[in-house]
Parts: sequence; structure tokens; C-alpha cells
Amino acid sequence: MKRFTITTYPLENKTVFLRVDYNIPLEKGYVKDNIKIKSSLETIKFLLSKGCKIIMATHLGRPEGKVVHELKVDPLVKELRKLLPKIKITKVHDCIGTKVKQEIKKLKPQQILFLENLRFYAEEEENDFVFAHSLAEGSDVFINDAFGVCHRKNASINAITTILPAIAGFQLEKEIFNLSKALNPEKPLIWVMGGAKLQKIDLIRQALNKADFVLIGGALPFSFLRAMNISTGMSKVDCETISVARDILKKKKWRKKLILPVDFNVAEAFSSRSKSEIVKYNNIKSGHIALDLGPETITLFKRYVRKGRTIVWNGPLGYYEWHQFSTATKEVGKTIAQLTATTIVGGGETSDAVIRFHLQDKMNHVSTGGGAALTYLSGKRLSGVVALEQNYQKFHQFAKTR
Ligand code: 3PG
Repeated sequence: MKRFTITTYPLENKTVFLRVDYNIPLEKGYVKDNIKIKSSLETIKFLLSKGCKIIMATHLGRPEGKVVHELKVDPLVKELRKLLPKIKITKVHDCIGTKVKQEIKKLKPQQILFLENLRFYAEEEENDFVFAHSLAEGSDVFINDAFGVCHRKNASINAITTILPAIAGFQLEKEIFNLSKALNPEKPLIWVMGGAKLQKIDLIRQALNKADFVLIGGALPFSFLRAMNISTGMSKVDCETISVARDILKKKKWRKKLILPVDFNVAEAFSSRSKSEIVKYNNIKSGHIALDLGPETITLFKRYVRKGRTIVWNGPLGYYEWHQFSTATKEVGKTIAQLTATTIVGGGETSDAVIRFHLQDKMNHVSTGGGAALTYLSGKRLSGVVALEQNYQKFHQFAKTR
């Protein structure tokens, strides 16, 4: 399905509403990592080169419709100013209303007006049309460069596309282009799945349909072990996922593709300084908690990833934030990074781990999206992208005549 593209749509001297995803963890009022901001620069610079006036907006955190001081976007604006030192960037303390309208009137070509956190209004997450209308006021076109939030039906992603011509930004197109390689991949295709979100276990079915092998780490193996009546001590597991795991194990063709850990690094308590030991997968004592994969599993996983021509990695393999439980994530990550295969990393935590271990430049694609990348890789359509396609159907005749 077609979408308007940034290079072919007539954007000269337009006022554009640019939606970005700058949802970045802040630490003491500072941006922890600026990868999402850097990724949006190509689109911003292109728009500036076309003489556009840019109205920019993002969400930050989950303030649930209230003004939360710690979630004001000022640190993001500060970081953007550092990256674009020659550009005048004005921050306004709201995202709709009289003050915003006044600032838009003052805006000159090649200047940026940055709005306050969109989620300070509940209407944003309610995909409210009237709110979207207020956001769109004063803009000629809408540009979506917020891949990470395209799985959410939000007003600044969806409803706004019923009002203005809507164009996909460079970052959004790049994400879709790169992630789509994992939908039609060069084989063998290996999925490495980990992380702590047990709901992801449902995604394993999708992975098993597509991949030649699916390697399971993080908190996901425990559902499988419990499904096989193997004790997992205090390790994270919930009943619902055990039955999903049981169903998966019943299917012979899936069972053959599923590579489960053979040993773990277990701790006596959930603490970075806890005593730990390596145990076989069926020897986790009650009261102990598995926080990383063991050395045999790491060797096994490395052997499998080396077989792949395409690797999709989603979710850290252990509790990588704590040095003593970071070995599997770091070691398997390093091996993936050294491959000549196509390597795609998706999900917020995985991207964070990859950056922490300085592997990001060696991967073919590190997705800025967490939930969005997972949704896309599970074969589902992203509502924000569907909205862009519907917008094209609605506006393309009109665009031709301009
Ligand atoms: C992300 O960081 O994954 C996106 O910005 C989406 O954020 P959300 O899960 O709060 O909607």
C-alpha cells in the first residue's frame, strides 16, 4: 500500500507538524541516551532545507492525561538544541491553545517550535478527533517520524491523519524497510528471544512459524521448564504463559526448532551482589533465582547464531543491568555483531543493552521501537502506518493538483 513520501511530496515553505518519538528515559533531568533524537535529524534537516516551519511534538512517559513536572519535554529540547546549534528552537508550555497559536504565528521558515508533552492531555491516548484538530491547526501537512509509537492509536498518530495530508518521515521508512527484511528473510533465520515480558511468549509461536531456530533466554525459558514439570525456584514465571508453553511443546515441528537453555547462573537472592552459581536447567533450587544463562548455553547459542543468514534479536538474555548477570547478553550479542548475516535488533531493552556493550554500529539495524517493532515483527500491521496509507488514498488526487 502506498504512502506519501517525504522526498516526493511538495514540501517547500510549508508549515509541518512533525510527530517524533522522543520517549527517552531521563536521569536527573538529562537525556540518558540520545539515539531517538539523533535518528530524527535526517527528517528535520531535510525539512529545514526545504524552508519549512516545523512544529514538533512527542510524548514522554505515561503521565495519563495530567501535567507531570518530571515529564516536561525541556531536557529533550535542550538535547535537540545541542544537536542543531544553528537552528532557533522555541519551546512552548502547552501543545494546544492560544499560546501555541501565537507562537506558530511568530515562527519563521527554518525555525522549530517544540510543543509540550502530548500525553499531558488524556485525549492524546484516546485518539480524540477534536484534540487532533487543535494540534493540526496552523499546519499544512503532518509528518510521522515516530515509528516507536505507531502501534498505538493516538491522536497525534492516527486522528490527525484524517485532517492533514500525512507523510512518513525518513526514520519511519527506514524502520519499516529494515524490519521488513525479517518478514522475508534470507535463510537460515534465527530468532533470539529474551527479556522479562512474559506476554512475549505468544510471539514465540509467530517466531516458530517463520524461523529455522528460536533461541529462548531471559525470563522466557521458565514457562517452558514449568510446562515440563521442572522446578524453576523463584525465577519469574506466570501460570498463563505455562499453558502457552505447553501448547508449543506439544507441536513436534516447533519443538525441533526451539532451543532452550541447558544451564543457568542462579542467585541466592535478587540482588546484584548475591552469591551465584552455575547449575543445570533441571537443578534450580527452591528459593534460588536464575538471572543469566550458564556457559554451556552461551556456547550453544553462539553455535546456533553462527548458522544464521538473518538474525532477529529481541530481549536481553539475562539481567544485563547487573555486571555479574550480563555475560549471556554480552557474549551472544558480541557474536551476533561479528556475523556477516543480516542482524536486526528490536525492543527498548535490547537496544539499550546493545548500546551499553558498544555493539550498535555492528548491527544492520537497531530498531528505536520496542512494542512497535515487536508488533511489526509478529506480522501484525501497525495502526499508525495503516493510517498513513489511508491518508494517501484520501489525499493523493488533491496533492497532484497543488
Ligand atoms: C516506546 O518507547 O516504546 C514508545 O515511545 C511507546 O511508548 P509507550 O509504550 O508508552 O506507548
